[in-house]
Amino acid sequence: MSKSMFPDRNRLDMDPPAQLAAIQAATETLGFNMPSIPQTGALLRALAASKPAARVLELGTGTGIATCWLLDGLDANGQLVTVEIDPVVQQVAKIDLGYDARINFVEAEAVEFMQQAPKLAFDLIFADALPGKYSELDDALSLLADGGIYVVDDLLPQDDWPADHAPKVPVFIENMKSRTELTVEYWEWSSGILLARKSGA
Ligand SMILES: C[S@@+](CC[C@H](N)C(=O)[O-])C[C@H]1O[C@@H](n2cnc3c(N)ncnc32)[C@H](O)[C@@H]1O
Repeated sequence: MSKSMFPDRNRLDMDPPAQLAAIQAATETLGFNMPSIPQTGALLRALAASKPAARVLELGTGTGIATCWLLDGLDANGQLVTVEIDPVVQQVAKIDLGYDARINFVEAEAVEFMQQAPKLAFDLIFADALPGKYSELDDALSLLADGGIYVVDDLLPQDDWPADHAPKVPVFIENMKSRTELTVEYWEWSSGILLARKSGA
């Protein structure tokens, strides 16, 4: 058979992190229905791997699906802070990833965390809770180092969105694009990805 001109670009031969299967199983058992999908995970892993000793922040640990991918990309000197308001879901991540000294699990409300964290402290921010994305955007971006990258997913329509959510998405994207300090890419890929690089070094 001849090679297709249109290869399946969603193939999942991505060499997933070792802990991913266990976390996915526990996520299903718990009934947590907001996990990041593998394409997003693979992108996050590549971004975490792109900078030596990267300082990474995740807002919204959930059960640790993206946490697991981010950790897999970090080098030995990297650091990952992941913030979650719900200790029950975060405990799933702690069980499989808590052994790793590069990760700091923070049980906190994201707004409080952002307002207390040092400015410019992170090279990569995965904003995966409502605060830091649809509210308190300035707070989240103030934590991003010059040259750092801010990423969000879930910008494409999803069946379980509340009725008032869809209109917020284009407002968020336009808000991001209007910021002169950011170079913004929006991709209708994975669950809908926006990636922004803050100008600087
Ligand atoms: C989309 S899920 C995160 C999924 C996870 N990052 C993953 O990749 O599978 C959003 C998470 O944010 C948490 N969350 C919602 N509001 C929050 C807040 N104000 N502060 C901290 N966490 C919050 C929720 O409990 C939920 O676990």
